[in-house]
Amino acid sequence: MEIVESPRAAQQLVEEWRCANETIGFAPTMGALHDGHLSLLEKARRENTKTVASIFVNPLQFGADEDLEKYPRPRQRDIELLEENGCDLLFAPTPNEMYPNGKALARVEVAELGNLWEGGARPGHFNGVATVVAKLFNIVRAHCAYFGEKDFQQLQIIRQMARDLDFETQIIPCPTLRENDGLAMSSRNAYLSKAERRAAASLNRALGAGVLLAQNGERESFVLEREMNDVLDGAPLVETDYLAVVEATTLEPLPRLDGRAARVLLAARIGATRLIDNVGLH
Ligand code: PAJ
Repeated sequence: MEIVESPRAAQQLVEEWRCANETIGFAPTMGALHDGHLSLLEKARRENTKTVASIFVNPLQFGADEDLEKYPRPRQRDIELLEENGCDLLFAPTPNEMYPNGKALARVEVAELGNLWEGGARPGHFNGVATVVAKLFNIVRAHCAYFGEKDFQQLQIIRQMARDLDFETQIIPCPTLRENDGLAMSSRNAYLSKAERRAAASLNRALGAGVLLAQNGERESFVLEREMNDVLDGAPLVETDYLAVVEATTLEPLPRLDGRAARVLLAARIGATRLIDNVGLH
């Protein structure tokens, strides 16, 4: 595996591959890799001839009071995992290479979608995400880029950005990988104490209760939401931030299931850790 820190060097290598008719699959990450990240890479490898991963803890998407400093950075372990999983290129720039002098004067904003839900709780977060992903797309010039449904709003924002700004990279969604008790895998799960970790399983349990009720024919969102909130209210240590049935593309609240694709979006705090999860409803 090649490890490259400079955007120019990554662009040159990718250009050589493109000239040799390779197809490039790309999985952008912030590192502290787990099986969820590796599942994106695996799909990229199955569907392309060259696989690229990036690791960059992007300061632009962290709020002033968020965990930028303490975000886990197990670099050596990440490199080993990528090598074991057949990654061809790791792009791992320093903040200064991505934002010389600490500045990004030109930024990307995805209106509306970027201000809902996570955007409401974390102002500016999605502008930071969209900006760094646009830069990564211009550096890696992948044919396909792989994003997890775990971060459903992020996935929809990147899709909208790619459409609106005519990126040639095709956005490929990937299912959420979960621990045995249903907790969605996340680098932030490492922050949880034993008791918090146990409580965290209630997020997926709540979503499961909503799915079941919808399968049994319930169409009213407020009934579905009440059922899911009851599960969360019954769990210790869990403070729900938002839980909503939404239309899956605009992410606007959906009062009742009407045949359009629907999603439940959920964010909760457990101690000092904020977790998100989501599920599709039919
Ligand atoms: P990060 O949180 O490291 O996630 C990188 C990718 O892995 C994202 O597409 C995310 O949705 C996916 N992912 C995370 N947990 C997953 C799980 N349990 N199952 C499946 N996929 C999972 O998301 C980011 O980084 C950043 O915002 C980034 C897009 C890299 C921009 O900085």
